[in-house]
Amino acid sequence: MKVKNVGIKNDFLRHSQQKKAIFDENKKDKFIIKGLDGKKKLNGKISVAGAKNAALPAFAASILFRDRFCVSNVPNIKDVDSINALLEKLGAVVEKQIEKKYRIVTDKIKSIILDTEISKKMRGSIVLTGPLLARFGKVSFPHPGGCVIGARPIDAFLNGFQKMGAKVQNRNGKYIVSIGRNKKLKGAKIFFNKISVTGTETLMLAGILAKGRTVIENAALEPEIKHLADFLNSCGAKIKGAGTSTIEIIGGNLLSAGNKAYKIPPDRIEAGSFLILGALSADNLEITNCDPEHMKALINILRNSGVHIIEEKNKIIIKNNRKIKNKDFKCVDIKTHEYPGFPTDLQSPMAIYLTQVSGKSLLFETIFEGRLNYIDDLIKMGANIIMRDTHRIMIKGPTQLKGRELVGKDLRAEFAFFIAAIVAKGKSIINNVRYIDRGYEQIEKRLSDIGVNIQRING
Ligand code: EPZ
Repeated sequence: MKVKNVGIKNDFLRHSQQKKAIFDENKKDKFIIKGLDGKKKLNGKISVAGAKNAALPAFAASILFRDRFCVSNVPNIKDVDSINALLEKLGAVVEKQIEKKYRIVTDKIKSIILDTEISKKMRGSIVLTGPLLARFGKVSFPHPGGCVIGARPIDAFLNGFQKMGAKVQNRNGKYIVSIGRNKKLKGAKIFFNKISVTGTETLMLAGILAKGRTVIENAALEPEIKHLADFLNSCGAKIKGAGTSTIEIIGGNLLSAGNKAYKIPPDRIEAGSFLILGALSADNLEITNCDPEHMKALINILRNSGVHIIEEKNKIIIKNNRKIKNKDFKCVDIKTHEYPGFPTDLQSPMAIYLTQVSGKSLLFETIFEGRLNYIDDLIKMGANIIMRDTHRIMIKGPTQLKGRELVGKDLRAEFAFFIAAIVAKGKSIINNVRYIDRGYEQIEKRLSDIGVNIQRING
């Protein structure tokens, strides 16, 4: 696969090796973690990377640019490698300039077919369909893959495309969406029956090159959407209301970034996972390069439970009074909700937290119907959890978790197992790691820098 590089040689080698690894399904690493047995021993600073779920739509947005699109603070993760590989297969030129900075040129795109194998690796691949359809009038793609956390239908995307004048067909398991030769998508009023993050991003991006006015109602409010919309507006797009439930886009021509680069915002889910880890296992932990403004639901809940959190501009500090044990923290009920509510992506790390604090907590996963399937392993580690139904569990704490062999069930639940292993007594082996490198860069280095006893064994 061609990767044009204008940066350091080592960077090039690592980048190419990573790309090769995407296709190497047999290479599954494992991690060995020695637990702290509930003690608060982690210390120091842990830096948050750019957000995976902001990077993917940003790379997709590059298709709307007439000239180059530069993007910085890109996390060094497999999902970014996958979206780059998808763009390259379409004919785009993706250059890694320096660490975390890419330049993408999409004017040589000659294919509108998303590669099936790569698209099946991640849900975020679907965001490419909006810009491709809007710019080239046609797109062909498989049902996107990604974490198995529910049915994850794509009706909202397809209905949106149809409202914008496109024809949707399904041939041999592949969707073909087309407008017709030399035609443009037309602006439309789209109402989401269910709030969809990638649905909002995809149709917002499609609306930028459509003819006339597109209005998305019941849109997702995630900060990554507003952040991207603000940048696109500075490049010529006309998007109003991003970050609210009604987004209006007046379509126009291809965008131009001039000398500007889009900076990926910090990953609020990664920061939140570190915060939960810090609450349980740190003496004094600084989570740097994050935005506490985007983490209000979690911070509020942890404070209600008794955790001492200091918020600064781009930093969160956990200071655990040595006399306070995890069992001194209070139980709290959790109900996942679209942003700005409690994120579904932090539901599994929070479940680990609730096994350590005193009392009975009800955890209600409202967004995805298959996102509690890590519970059995947690019970085997010693957690006291009753499954009420596929959406609700009751957790009774505190319990001492015991290290064991685990296999991650989805990206966030795999990281939740890392937290469980750190809190537990004894050694845990997280086998067959499939997800962690998709979303968390250099996780073993960052965790060992704050005192986690962790070792990666290459598969
Ligand atoms: C995004 O997924 C994130 N992924 C997910 O992060 C995150 O969990 C999720 O939003 C919710 O916050 C990316 O941004 C790449 P949705 P997305 O469409 O967009 C239903 C992670 O680990 N729905 O907002 O796929 C759907 O079934 C991941 O980083 C329809 O019914 O989620 C779900 O119940 C996992 N029809 C709800 O909406 C549709 O056409 C929300 O899904 C689309 C969605």
